[in-house]
Amino acid sequence: MEEERTKPVTIKDVAREAGVSIATVSRLLNGLDGVAPERAQRIRDAVEKLHYQPNSMARALKIRESRSIGLIIPDIENPFFPALVRGVEDAAQLHGYAVILCNTDGKPTREEEYMKFLYQKQVDGILFAGNLDFAENSHWLSTIQLPIVLLDRRIPGAPYSAVLSANEDGAYLAVQHLIAQGCRQIAVIGGRARSPVSNERLQGYRQALIDNKMEADEMLCKEGNFSFEGGYQAMESLLAGGKPFDGLFAANDMMAIGALQCLERHGRKVPEEIAVVGYDDIQMAAWYKPALTTMGQPVYEMGRLAVAKLVEEIGGKNVVRQEQILQPHLVVRQSSLRKGQER
Ligand code: RIB
Repeated sequence: MEEERTKPVTIKDVAREAGVSIATVSRLLNGLDGVAPERAQRIRDAVEKLHYQPNSMARALKIRESRSIGLIIPDIENPFFPALVRGVEDAAQLHGYAVILCNTDGKPTREEEYMKFLYQKQVDGILFAGNLDFAENSHWLSTIQLPIVLLDRRIPGAPYSAVLSANEDGAYLAVQHLIAQGCRQIAVIGGRARSPVSNERLQGYRQALIDNKMEADEMLCKEGNFSFEGGYQAMESLLAGGKPFDGLFAANDMMAIGALQCLERHGRKVPEEIAVVGYDDIQMAAWYKPALTTMGQPVYEMGRLAVAKLVEEIGGKNVVRQEQILQPHLVVRQSSLRKGQER
């Protein structure tokens, strides 16, 4: 009995348990198409039941390196991400790696496709900035036998190292700043619904209100999907709601700029009537009029650190799973700076 438990589970055991051939199991675990859904499910069930670790031996024996890493990001049109890519690419080059960039438009299906694609291409590791739900996807994620480091976006429950930014602290500081500027009714535009980044920033917003004995009003809380359009529409909806507010925290700069456009169209004065703070410090934040107050993220450094961690894990010696969390900083500009108020 004892012997059975310590014996490593092989692909043959999985094939027997699932009632399919070894080739079929291998096909599925390598991310190739052509396995019927019902058989694929039987194989996944067997993998889970037997706690099979595919490819661990092959990986240990891998001698050929591709000297390439994959970088999966959700939105190439969001200027935050090109800045992140820059940090990743510069660092990767220094370490002697090329970067394969994959843009998913935030779609979980594309995240899965790209993960499998990169695995098949035999990259040496993957940096992942995405929104996958780990519990829902662990059955195939566990078949990607490569070092993976999360970048910018947390995936609750995922057993990977991560390089992140302190989103809750950043939002807290942003709202404290609005309060210091005299704001007493602060609205918020959150990002993509249910995404950890957005939730953490909303949590920071709420905590700052609580600590200042101010109430969070659900009528002043909207979603903007991290886009210009989303910010614009969220502001339309805030104004249409009729509930007065004198400050706005937007969970990224694109939404803040969309909201500023909307305020301008409605003839509302920024920052005199409504002070606005965004998040990210994208280049456009400094060039917009009014220039946007925002939370700067050490985005280049995040990319650099994530590559360093991934390279360490590719090297494979005494790898310790690690979460590195970097602090954002407040960049005060015209959109929130009210005359006579403290900074
Ligand atoms: O721009 C939206 C957000 O997506 C950024 O703030 C960054 O943190 C990323 O997760």
